[in-house]
Amino acid sequence: MRIAIFPGSFDPVTNGHLDIIRRASPLFDRLLVAVLVHPTKPGTLPLPTRADMIRRVTAGLPNVDVEQFTGLLATYAASRGAQVIIRGLRSAGDFAYEAPMAWLNSGLAKEIETLFMLTSPQYAYITSSAVREIAALGGDISHLAPKALQNEIYAACKPK
Ligand code: PNS
Repeated sequence: MRIAIFPGSFDPVTNGHLDIIRRASPLFDRLLVAVLVHPTKPGTLPLPTRADMIRRVTAGLPNVDVEQFTGLLATYAASRGAQVIIRGLRSAGDFAYEAPMAWLNSGLAKEIETLFMLTSPQYAYITSSAVREIAALGGDISHLAPKALQNEIYAACKPK
Protein backbone atom coordinates (compact mmCIF):
# COMPACT_ATOMS: atom_id res chain seq x y z
CA MET A 1 0.00 0.00 0.00
CA ARG A 2 1.59 3.29 -1.13
CA ILE A 3 0.60 6.02 1.29
CA ALA A 4 1.46 9.68 0.81
CA ILE A 5 0.89 12.61 3.15
CA PHE A 6 0.08 16.09 1.88
CA PRO A 7 0.74 18.25 4.95
CA GLY A 8 0.04 21.93 5.42
CA SER A 9 -1.60 24.66 7.43
CA PHE A 10 -4.57 24.93 5.01
CA ASP A 11 -5.71 28.15 6.69
CA PRO A 12 -7.90 27.93 4.59
CA VAL A 13 -7.56 25.37 1.77
CA THR A 14 -7.12 27.13 -1.62
CA ASN A 15 -7.64 26.17 -5.25
CA GLY A 16 -3.86 25.64 -5.40
CA HIS A 17 -4.00 23.05 -2.60
CA LEU A 18 -6.94 21.35 -4.27
CA ASP A 19 -5.00 21.16 -7.55
CA ILE A 20 -2.15 19.31 -5.81
CA ILE A 21 -4.60 16.95 -4.03
CA ARG A 22 -6.38 16.11 -7.29
CA ARG A 23 -3.13 15.48 -9.16
CA ALA A 24 -1.35 13.58 -6.35
CA SER A 25 -4.20 11.30 -5.30
CA PRO A 26 -4.16 9.03 -8.42
CA LEU A 27 -0.41 8.43 -7.92
CA PHE A 28 -0.88 6.65 -4.56
CA ASP A 29 -3.18 4.05 -3.00
CA ARG A 30 -4.02 6.50 -0.24
CA LEU A 31 -3.42 10.24 0.14
CA LEU A 32 -3.68 11.64 3.65
CA VAL A 33 -4.17 15.38 3.80
CA ALA A 34 -2.78 16.42 7.17
CA VAL A 35 -3.68 19.73 8.79
CA LEU A 36 -0.72 20.61 10.99
CA VAL A 37 0.30 23.56 13.08
CA HIS A 38 3.01 25.79 11.62
CA PRO A 39 5.42 26.56 14.50
CA THR A 40 5.43 30.33 13.85
CA LYS A 41 1.89 30.71 12.50
CA PRO A 42 -0.83 29.72 14.97
CA GLY A 43 -3.35 30.57 12.25
CA THR A 44 -6.82 32.04 11.97
CA LEU A 45 -9.30 29.20 11.43
CA PRO A 46 -9.60 26.46 14.07
CA LEU A 47 -7.86 23.22 13.04
CA PRO A 48 -11.08 21.13 13.02
CA THR A 49 -12.73 23.71 10.72
CA ARG A 50 -9.79 23.60 8.30
CA ALA A 51 -9.91 19.79 8.22
CA ASP A 52 -13.69 19.74 7.77
CA MET A 53 -13.46 22.20 4.85
CA ILE A 54 -10.92 19.97 3.06
CA ARG A 55 -13.06 16.90 3.75
CA ARG A 56 -16.04 18.51 2.05
CA VAL A 57 -14.19 19.61 -1.08
CA THR A 58 -12.40 16.26 -1.48
CA ALA A 59 -15.48 14.10 -0.83
CA GLY A 60 -15.41 12.91 -4.46
CA LEU A 61 -11.86 11.54 -4.19
CA PRO A 62 -12.24 8.05 -2.66
CA ASN A 63 -8.60 7.50 -1.67
CA VAL A 64 -8.21 10.86 0.07
CA ASP A 65 -8.58 11.16 3.85
CA VAL A 66 -8.17 14.24 5.99
CA GLU A 67 -6.73 14.36 9.50
CA GLN A 68 -5.42 16.97 11.89
CA PHE A 69 -2.30 16.47 13.98
CA THR A 70 -0.44 18.58 16.52
CA GLY A 71 3.21 17.56 16.59
CA LEU A 72 6.06 16.75 14.25
CA LEU A 73 5.22 15.93 10.66
CA ALA A 74 7.85 13.15 10.67
CA THR A 75 6.20 11.53 13.71
CA TYR A 76 2.78 11.76 12.11
CA ALA A 77 3.98 10.35 8.76
CA ALA A 78 5.72 7.40 10.44
CA SER A 79 2.65 6.69 12.60
CA ARG A 80 0.51 6.42 9.47
CA GLY A 81 2.97 4.14 7.62
CA ALA A 82 3.50 6.74 4.88
CA GLN A 83 6.44 6.45 2.48
CA VAL A 84 6.08 9.89 0.92
CA ILE A 85 5.47 13.52 1.90
CA ILE A 86 4.12 15.67 -0.93
CA ARG A 87 4.76 19.41 -0.98
CA GLY A 88 3.58 21.82 -3.66
CA LEU A 89 6.06 24.26 -5.20
CA ARG A 90 4.92 27.57 -6.69
CA SER A 91 8.28 29.29 -7.08
CA ALA A 92 12.01 29.30 -6.40
CA GLY A 93 11.12 31.09 -3.15
CA ASP A 94 9.05 28.09 -2.11
CA PHE A 95 11.96 25.80 -2.95
CA ALA A 96 14.31 27.79 -0.70
CA TYR A 97 11.88 27.26 2.19
CA GLU A 98 11.01 23.67 1.33
CA ALA A 99 14.45 22.13 0.74
CA PRO A 100 15.75 22.57 4.33
CA MET A 101 12.39 21.34 5.65
CA ALA A 102 12.70 18.19 3.51
CA TRP A 103 16.28 17.62 4.73
CA LEU A 104 15.21 18.15 8.34
CA ASN A 105 12.32 15.72 7.92
CA SER A 106 14.57 13.12 6.31
CA GLY A 107 16.91 13.42 9.31
CA LEU A 108 13.94 12.69 11.57
CA ALA A 109 12.48 9.84 9.46
CA LYS A 110 14.99 8.45 6.94
CA GLU A 111 12.55 6.08 5.29
CA ILE A 112 10.20 8.89 4.21
CA GLU A 113 10.85 10.73 0.94
CA THR A 114 9.67 14.27 0.26
CA LEU A 115 8.39 14.70 -3.32
CA PHE A 116 7.77 18.15 -4.76
CA MET A 117 4.93 18.79 -7.19
CA LEU A 118 4.83 21.96 -9.24
CA THR A 119 1.62 23.89 -8.79
CA SER A 120 -0.33 24.35 -12.02
CA PRO A 121 0.55 27.82 -13.37
CA GLN A 122 -2.95 29.25 -12.99
CA TYR A 123 -2.67 28.78 -9.20
CA ALA A 124 0.96 29.77 -8.71
CA TYR A 125 0.16 33.14 -7.11
CA ILE A 126 -2.42 31.91 -4.59
CA THR A 127 -1.67 31.85 -0.87
CA SER A 128 -3.93 31.16 2.11
CA SER A 129 -2.83 34.45 3.66
CA ALA A 130 -3.95 36.38 0.54
CA VAL A 131 -7.31 34.57 0.65
CA ARG A 132 -7.73 35.54 4.33
CA GLU A 133 -6.75 39.16 3.72
CA ILE A 134 -9.01 39.64 0.69
CA ALA A 135 -11.91 37.88 2.47
CA ALA A 136 -11.42 40.05 5.58
CA LEU A 137 -11.69 43.16 3.40
CA GLY A 138 -14.76 41.86 1.55
CA GLY A 139 -13.09 41.21 -1.84
CA ASP A 140 -13.89 38.50 -4.38
CA ILE A 141 -12.21 35.17 -3.56
CA SER A 142 -14.18 33.04 -6.04
CA HIS A 143 -11.09 32.40 -8.21
CA LEU A 144 -8.83 31.65 -5.23
CA ALA A 145 -10.66 29.21 -2.95
CA PRO A 146 -13.34 26.52 -3.44
CA LYS A 147 -16.71 28.16 -4.11
CA ALA A 148 -18.51 25.82 -1.69
CA LEU A 149 -16.48 27.25 1.21
CA GLN A 150 -16.73 30.92 0.43
CA ASN A 151 -19.40 32.01 2.89
CA GLU A 152 -17.59 30.19 5.68
CA ILE A 153 -14.26 31.76 4.76
CA TYR A 154 -15.78 35.25 4.75
CA ALA A 155 -17.34 34.59 8.17
CA ALA A 156 -14.11 33.19 9.65
CA CYS A 157 -11.93 36.02 8.33
CA LYS A 158 -14.27 38.91 9.17
CA PRO A 159 -12.46 41.33 11.50
CA LYS A 160 -13.78 40.86 15.06
O1 PNS B 1 1.17 25.16 4.62
P1 PNS B 1 2.44 25.43 5.37
O2 PNS B 1 2.20 26.46 6.45
O3 PNS B 1 3.58 25.80 4.47
O4 PNS B 1 2.82 24.04 6.09
C1 PNS B 1 3.94 23.93 6.92
C2 PNS B 1 3.83 22.67 7.79
C3 PNS B 1 2.56 22.74 8.65
C4 PNS B 1 3.77 21.43 6.90
C5 PNS B 1 5.10 22.61 8.69
O5 PNS B 1 5.17 23.77 9.46
C6 PNS B 1 5.11 21.38 9.59
O6 PNS B 1 5.47 20.31 9.16
N1 PNS B 1 4.66 21.57 10.84
C7 PNS B 1 4.61 20.48 11.82
C8 PNS B 1 5.77 20.60 12.81
C9 PNS B 1 7.05 20.04 12.22
O7 PNS B 1 7.14 18.87 11.87
N2 PNS B 1 8.05 20.92 12.08
C10 PNS B 1 9.34 20.52 11.57
C11 PNS B 1 9.40 20.65 10.07
S1 PNS B 1 11.06 20.74 9.61
